Amino acid sequence: MVETEGALMGQHSVCITVETEGSMTGQNSRCVTVETEESMTGENSLCVTVETEASMTGENSLCVTVETEASMEWLGRQLAQSTGTGGLTVALQGTLGAGKTTFTRGFLRQCGHLGTVKSPTFTLVEPYDLAEGSVYHFDLYRLLDPTELEWLGVRDYFSPNTRCLVEWPERGVGVLPIFDLQVTIHYTDTGRLVELYASSARGHTVLEALRVLSRNNAS
Ligand SMILES: Nc1ncnc2c1ncn2[C@@H]1O[C@H](COP(=O)(O)OP(=O)(O)OP(=O)(O)O)[C@@H](O)[C@H]1O
Ligand SMILES: [Mg+2]
Repeated sequence: MVETEGALMGQHSVCITVETEGSMTGQNSRCVTVETEESMTGENSLCVTVETEASMTGENSLCVTVETEASMEWLGRQLAQSTGTGGLTVALQGTLGAGKTTFTRGFLRQCGHLGTVKSPTFTLVEPYDLAEGSVYHFDLYRLLDPTELEWLGVRDYFSPNTRCLVEWPERGVGVLPIFDLQVTIHYTDTGRLVELYASSARGHTVLEALRVLSRNNAS
């Protein structure tokens, strides 16, 4: 539901048109409500409201409310558990301080990493050679041009068997491959809302495993 035309014209905003309520529950779709002009003009922000429970159970997406830093780490752990040792590429989106590194820390801990996890802001990528295979953590915040990633040999990192988590993936558009999963973290009044969206068959499989895991943990 887009209520004002002006809401679609804010700087750095994303224009998403949802034409009917039905279009919000179709496969590959997302539930997006742009409520006011202000809500779309925050720098790099996107206002997303999940209105019904049904919209949270769409086949390709999953929304999770995350109240604390610890539960963000827990969600990262759950994703790693759902991934197993197979490959997975994850785009982590959200404004500064949203919780992208916290999520990654949980993922890495579940994969067996015991030390600290810091965003590789200056080196762009931090490799973790773990017992069950490599995990690569990217932070592209300081990337000036996506072509810099070519110098880094980024395509070699994105092989089918590696696990890559990328903060600020929008800075590498055009060079980075399509991700299996897009994780978008939104600020809410009480914490964060995490939206996980599968964009490949592999992403879909992992998301299903995560859904089952979450359900089992909740019961
Ligand atoms: N529900 C929450 N989930 C995650 N972090 C939270 C939450 N509530 C508060 N925080 C705080 O928000 C901060 C998140 O930091 P983090 O480094 O993970 O963000 P980031 O998205 O990686 O930021 P950047 O874009 O600067 O790399 C931490 O200081 C954490 O304590
Ligand atoms: Mg970070």
